[in-house]
Amino acid sequence: QEIPTIQIIDASKYVGQTVKIGAWLRQKRGSGKISFLQLRDGTAFFQAVVVKADVSEQLFERSKGLKQETSMYVTGEIHEDTRSSFGFEMAVSDIEIIGESHDYPITPKEHGTDFLFDERHLYLRHLKPFATLKIRNTLVAASYEFFNQEGFTKLDAPFLTGSAAEGTTDLFETDYFGESAFLAQTGQLYAEAGAMAFGKVFTFGPAFRAEKSKTRRHLTEFWMIEPEMAFTHQEESLVVQEHYIAFLIEKVLEKNDQELDILERDKDLLRSYTQLPYPRVSYDDAIKLLQDNDFDVEWGVDFGSPEETFLANHFAKPIFIINYPKAIKAFYMKRHPTRDDIVISADLLAPEGYGEIIGGSEREDNYDLLKARIEEQKLDMAEYEWYLDLRRYGSVPHSGFGLGLERMVTFVTGEEHIREAIPFPRMINRLRP
Ligand code: 4AD
Ligand code: MG
Repeated sequence: QEIPTIQIIDASKYVGQTVKIGAWLRQKRGSGKISFLQLRDGTAFFQAVVVKADVSEQLFERSKGLKQETSMYVTGEIHEDTRSSFGFEMAVSDIEIIGESHDYPITPKEHGTDFLFDERHLYLRHLKPFATLKIRNTLVAASYEFFNQEGFTKLDAPFLTGSAAEGTTDLFETDYFGESAFLAQTGQLYAEAGAMAFGKVFTFGPAFRAEKSKTRRHLTEFWMIEPEMAFTHQEESLVVQEHYIAFLIEKVLEKNDQELDILERDKDLLRSYTQLPYPRVSYDDAIKLLQDNDFDVEWGVDFGSPEETFLANHFAKPIFIINYPKAIKAFYMKRHPTRDDIVISADLLAPEGYGEIIGGSEREDNYDLLKARIEEQKLDMAEYEWYLDLRRYGSVPHSGFGLGLERMVTFVTGEEHIREAIPFPRMINRLRP
């Protein structure tokens, strides 16, 4: 009978059978009589046991000589193992070494963060990055699922652009056959064109911002999901946003139990964030609340991390701060019908110090007002003519928002720093590997 080659994740289906698994050695320990091999294959982590009395002298010696990250095929019988969190282990009957590994740099001892990210191409193999990026994958898949089921069309926005949409200060400029181009800060303006063609669209792609800020929430390259909806006002958009966030959290709770355990994330706390609705707090009220709690803030300021942390923690769940001052928000946000100093916008702030995970707004749909805003901000009008066309030809109320994927990953996983939330982080001081 031929021995099946399986993946670790499927071990439970093969209890009592002999199987073969392609795996890497994470760690090993043992004595003169037994070796315990901690293995991983990209689907899960488990232990294989080599008992000296049950195998040839040669195989036992081979198992003792294995080095960290050596790749191999291990063959053996699957047993239930109630002591391990995975629940199964293998009694090894053969080991075939595939790729040797010598002096693997990430040893079981503690390493500094800089070192681990210098070795990110290898660090990906380790427990915490594995768990975090598996959850990221769930969030990506669940985003497609959510927007597909809600009738959105995925519309790809370009990454090389001629214009700035989120302020002109943090643009990455590049040479484009003799003229200058910018790496996209957002796909939004293109999503708006898409919404006028398809009703409801979403983009998903990298966004680039030459952020000079070294914070635990900022990357220079991050991924953003940007839904845009025609015939939609802000309040309707907020309902979509909170359902989307609750859907994402539910999917992670459903699909990533093991990963949340690895990361020691409090699942009950996460589950509490699926309770809707999320509070809507006006910017005006947020300022008052902050002042009442001894924050030195005045109407008109943008919130920093301490303010955002306080506000969301005050409600112990994600909250929308709505209708920010016009002066601190982007040119495309819709004027308030009765107040000239605020725009119809909303940021979703996550609790526990994770801060803004979504930025969104209703869009200025009036041609003259939008044109005036472009002029006010001294943007190059010629670059926005196509965008103004969307208001020239059948303009409608429309709203949209952008979820920062890595901010969401950081929040859901409970990680301290956003660099953990992306395979190869790009920050002011990191371009490699
Ligand atoms: O608030 P932002 O700048 O909004 C936009 O870009 C809009 N065009 C979105 C839209 O309405 N379609 O960015 C949206 C989100 C933020 O809430 C945050 O989660 C994330 O993108 N983000 C960043 N994530 C990591 N690093 C950075 N430097 C980020 N800047 C924004
Ligand atoms: Mg924002």
